[in-house]
Amino acid sequence: MRVAMIGTGYVGLVSGACFADFGHDVTCVDKDAAKVETLNSGGIPIYEPGLDLLVQRGVREGRLHFTQDLTDAVREADAVFIAVGTPSRRGDGFADLTYVYAAAKEIAQVMDGHTVVVTKSTVPVGTGDEVERIIREARPDADFSVVSNPEFLREGAAIDDFKRPDRVVVGTNDERARAVMTELYRPLYLNETPIIFTARRTSELIKYAANAFLAMKITFINEIADLCDKLGANVQEVARGVGLDNRIGRKFLNAGPGYGGSCFPKDTLALVRTAQDADSPVRLIETVVDINDRRKRDMADKVIAACEGDVDGKTIAILGLTFKPNTDDMREAPSLEIIPALQKAGARVRAFDPAGTVEAEHLFQDVEFTSGPYFCAEGADALVIITEWNEFRALDLSRLKSTMKAPVMVDLRNIYSPEEMSAAGFTYTSIGRPD
Ligand code: UDX
Repeated sequence: MRVAMIGTGYVGLVSGACFADFGHDVTCVDKDAAKVETLNSGGIPIYEPGLDLLVQRGVREGRLHFTQDLTDAVREADAVFIAVGTPSRRGDGFADLTYVYAAAKEIAQVMDGHTVVVTKSTVPVGTGDEVERIIREARPDADFSVVSNPEFLREGAAIDDFKRPDRVVVGTNDERARAVMTELYRPLYLNETPIIFTARRTSELIKYAANAFLAMKITFINEIADLCDKLGANVQEVARGVGLDNRIGRKFLNAGPGYGGSCFPKDTLALVRTAQDADSPVRLIETVVDINDRRKRDMADKVIAACEGDVDGKTIAILGLTFKPNTDDMREAPSLEIIPALQKAGARVRAFDPAGTVEAEHLFQDVEFTSGPYFCAEGADALVIITEWNEFRALDLSRLKSTMKAPVMVDLRNIYSPEEMSAAGFTYTSIGRPD
């Protein structure tokens, strides 16, 4: 099949490269000349493990192309994917669909023959109807259908999530579109990955409902962790005991500083707004949004408490700035709330992140960025782990202790255990576990 992928961000580039790896002929289109130039010269503008090899293989084998001009790509395509950004609209939290509608208008101008237009971007329920209206208005004669095909890609695991998904969701009532989508996902079809065909609006809602549920599950265990702190219970054992119930499942029950990223915060807010607009508020998710926002802010208080209630004039070393490991993405990262709050309380902050420093450097003021965990900890009054990078999972605790001013660690991801930290002579604070 011939595929045009409009947008080369996390979703577009991973999806395009994976479709090319499935054997399709894919042309990725982006307005950003520098990004297209980087991609055509073998560079990868985003941090996603394994993506460089996949893209280079697709380009080398002549199945993956990059261009700024969508004309030829769309004209020759059996399927045109809209994979542009749908950020939270400033002020009200609705999804900003400017780029989606602009892409629809451009596609309408150049499409030729039977074309399946696919919204891969996360879009509010009903967006497919509007995309169809825009294209129909511009091209009353065109032979096309608009299909929803949401992505369920986790940053840092996106290629695996695309190639070995739990399911593929396709929203269409058009038989020809169904045939095209089945052919596109043929390698997954052959290995019996469930492909759910449903109505377009239902498909659009599945995406939001899935992300909102995952955000809720994380927020649930985070609140249970706070209760564990008060009751002297161990949240990791609670999560294990609860997660072994196969109706609940063990994943996404790791207590932490609150969720971040480019999806959960934006998608929960968009669902809340859509539901309010439909006069059917999702009050549970409204509460999840509120709890999570507060939690990220409250984490600084946890650090201050671990420093005997005062960080004024103290040096705090931060390990991990990105919203999760194996990404350089800083969007809605808890560090963006924690570090300014510590600085406001008078702390001097040093930081290290294996991949996020370039992104982080223009997001913080007066933070000293360092080249590794031990250098970061040098002379620090406390060490705070915010992101659970593997690099932080087996630190030499005696070396840490000798380089720090005081052996104080605040572990917001429960990487270490209270027992080992006590044995190593640290004053140790973590999330939802008795000292
Ligand atoms: C998420 C969804 O998982 C994915 O299906 C969707 O397509 C996009 O949004 P992503 O945001 O990349 O993916 O990362 P994810 O691994 O889901 O983590 C999201 C946030 O939740 C991170 O801040 C992470 O630290 C946090 N999290 C995750 C927890 O705090 N605890 C957990 O147990 C899992």
